[in-house]
Amino acid sequence: MVNTVKIAPSILSADFARLGEEVRAIDKGGCDYVHIDVMDGHFVPNITIGPGVVAAVRPHTNKILDVHLMVSPVDPYLEAFAKAGSDIITVHAEAGPHLDRSLQAIRELGKKAGVALNPSTSEAALQYVLDKVDQILVMTVNPGFGGQKFLDSQVDKIRRVRQMIGDRPIDLEVDGGVDTRTANTVVQAGANVLVSGNGVFSGGNYAKRIKEIRAATA
Ligand code: DX5
Ligand code: ZN
Repeated sequence: MVNTVKIAPSILSADFARLGEEVRAIDKGGCDYVHIDVMDGHFVPNITIGPGVVAAVRPHTNKILDVHLMVSPVDPYLEAFAKAGSDIITVHAEAGPHLDRSLQAIRELGKKAGVALNPSTSEAALQYVLDKVDQILVMTVNPGFGGQKFLDSQVDKIRRVRQMIGDRPIDLEVDGGVDTRTANTVVQAGANVLVSGNGVFSGGNYAKRIKEIRAATA
């Protein structure tokens, strides 16, 4: 499993005043994805960035831009985030009544489609959309802020989602409170993409942090 684990630092914990430089630093530091948290002040109690910032970040890295939309309704914004240069666009299962339609729209825009589940949402929400999903994101904190405590209650869900995925080519991403202490737990449960905000950005040496998180999963 160790060779297949991808590290996706969340730029929510970066210095927004030096965003281009921060993105280049995690790129050079060996990240696999750049995770971008988009919050609308409605679906979650915080407001962060829009498609203009994704477009501004794009020229600073060739790594995969993993865009996590905490936005409701989300369908009106999918095209703008696709045009901004996103590679993976993830929507929340709770963001609207038509998850199937949103996923279809993302793929029609030529992007990989992801579904995120809040801590209180059952994995059953995935059952009838598995053929339209490239990535499943299990939230291990309530979305809205970086630096929150990892919710142990979600480990069982990660395990169940991994079973549901079976041999389908779907990545299983975990987001919230992932650091050197929790990384191995989620990988053992079946995760293969780890988002980490504070775990990467709270120390000065991003390459070292990324390497340590990766090593913790060995
Ligand atoms: C929370 C975001 C996460 C968050 C992770 O709503 O989706 O990506 O920034 O940050 P840490 O790793 O600090 O919990
Ligand atoms: Zn996120």
